[in-house]
Amino acid sequence: MEHNRTEDNKVGAALVVGGGIGGMQAALDLAESGIKVYLADNKSSIGGVMSQLDKTFPTNDCAMCTMAPRLVEIGRHKDIEKITLSEVESITGQPGNFSVTIKKNPRYIDDTKCTGCGACVSNCPTRNTVQPEEIEDIVLESQFDEEVTGILAKHRDRKGPLMPILQDINAAYNYFPENILRYVSQETGYSLAHINRIATFYSAFSLKPIGKHVINMCMGTACYVRGAELLLEKFTEVLGIGEGETTPDMLFTIKPVRCIGCCGLAPVMITGDDVYGKLQPKDIPGIVNKYQAKEQ
Ligand code: FES
Repeated sequence: MEHNRTEDNKVGAALVVGGGIGGMQAALDLAESGIKVYLADNKSSIGGVMSQLDKTFPTNDCAMCTMAPRLVEIGRHKDIEKITLSEVESITGQPGNFSVTIKKNPRYIDDTKCTGCGACVSNCPTRNTVQPEEIEDIVLESQFDEEVTGILAKHRDRKGPLMPILQDINAAYNYFPENILRYVSQETGYSLAHINRIATFYSAFSLKPIGKHVINMCMGTACYVRGAELLLEKFTEVLGIGEGETTPDMLFTIKPVRCIGCCGLAPVMITGDDVYGKLQPKDIPGIVNKYQAKEQ
């Protein structure tokens, strides 16, 4: 690419190699100072390792909350051009006037049409379809049979039925019993590996039994600095279970979560549709009693 050169032969463009959080910020800073930026990364998208993290040390901040504004800004910035799936092959020249050869690998999709919806992944005939040799004859336990066959029948003619099926099963049982997932695989033709990938990706889903009331204790930064840890300890003490565990009566599960979007009420706990803000440890026994009383 040709760029205007100043009198001392300097190019008004920069190449940032690596689209992790550091590369993203460098690209934004350069572009903001009026320089055309090429942001190259060997992966199919920018974001780097941080895009795989839930929280970041030492503040426990949500990684995606840090990255998302930068991703959007880079996507919209007129002076930043992303060159993904690419590798730097050679660099020649001198400071202010480099020439770089970049090898761009094929993406195998039409990125002028792709919206990133992921529907192709769910419907990929080679990756996600059960092969004949994998088919087992799964029979559902009687307590699940009617409900699960009803859910499958409800979504049978739908395009991309897997997600609504999993949502309905989750609504019915609050978790995914293993045999039900095997049965769904057998009946829908989605591979068990693909179903498991979805079932373990979303925090709303669980492979372990979950209590009727999930104590979602926010451990985001605002709540953390206002004593969320003490509240979590109090919940574990009152309920007699640890984080991520469920009481034997299947009433409560304690689940530490990241920012739930109401930091002004920190520290916050949510269970079902009920939000408890500005919580103090002395409030916890009363909250637990309230739900226990409802069950009696
Ligand atoms: S940090 Fe707890 S609601 Fe935001």
